[in-house]
Amino acid sequence: MSHSLLAEQTASPETPGTKYFPPFEVTPGLETEAAERLTHYPASKRSAMLPLLHLVQQKFGYLSAPAIRWVAGKLDLELIQVLEVVSFYPGLRQSAPGKFHIRVCRTLSCAMGGSYELMARLCELTGIDRSQCDAHHDPIAVSPCGNFSVEFVECLASCGTAPVCMVNDDFHEGVTADQAAALVEQKFPDFRVATHAGCP
Ligand code: FES
Repeated sequence: MSHSLLAEQTASPETPGTKYFPPFEVTPGLETEAAERLTHYPASKRSAMLPLLHLVQQKFGYLSAPAIRWVAGKLDLELIQVLEVVSFYPGLRQSAPGKFHIRVCRTLSCAMGGSYELMARLCELTGIDRSQCDAHHDPIAVSPCGNFSVEFVECLASCGTAPVCMVNDDFHEGVTADQAAALVEQKFPDFRVATHAGCP
């Protein structure tokens, strides 16, 4: 892959959610946590790739070009070897989500239970436009204010309580489209769905 194509593939387009996440920075704390994760894979540093990527994404919200380069350096790998993993897994992202990221399950039980209606209602409430979303390469859409983002995901392993979704790391079961407003307001009490008040 050429240098320019590689640069393009590692670019992190700004989103309205970028302001909620710190820029990537190699801190002593990050080095310590990375070193601890590496101890779990003494035979093959490369096996620590997903743990390191998750660590960085958890701390900085997404995987920017400097972050991907840092992980590659930690593992003594070429940039392209990390990039191919980042671009393969939908759970790894290269641009910022919203402050509250909502994952809605779209697999069979949830789809039959109303997850598409739930997604439509969430977008309506938060002003999110999903028309440019691409299921694999660009699955996340962010609200204009940056407070919310949505993403369809596959089975979240609670098919009996469909439809289910996650808001950041919190799991919510049996969320119908009618309950979307309450869910949004519960996560962000200053946000009034009728007016979008609370959005900067
Ligand atoms: S189908 Fe939605 S949790 Fe399994």
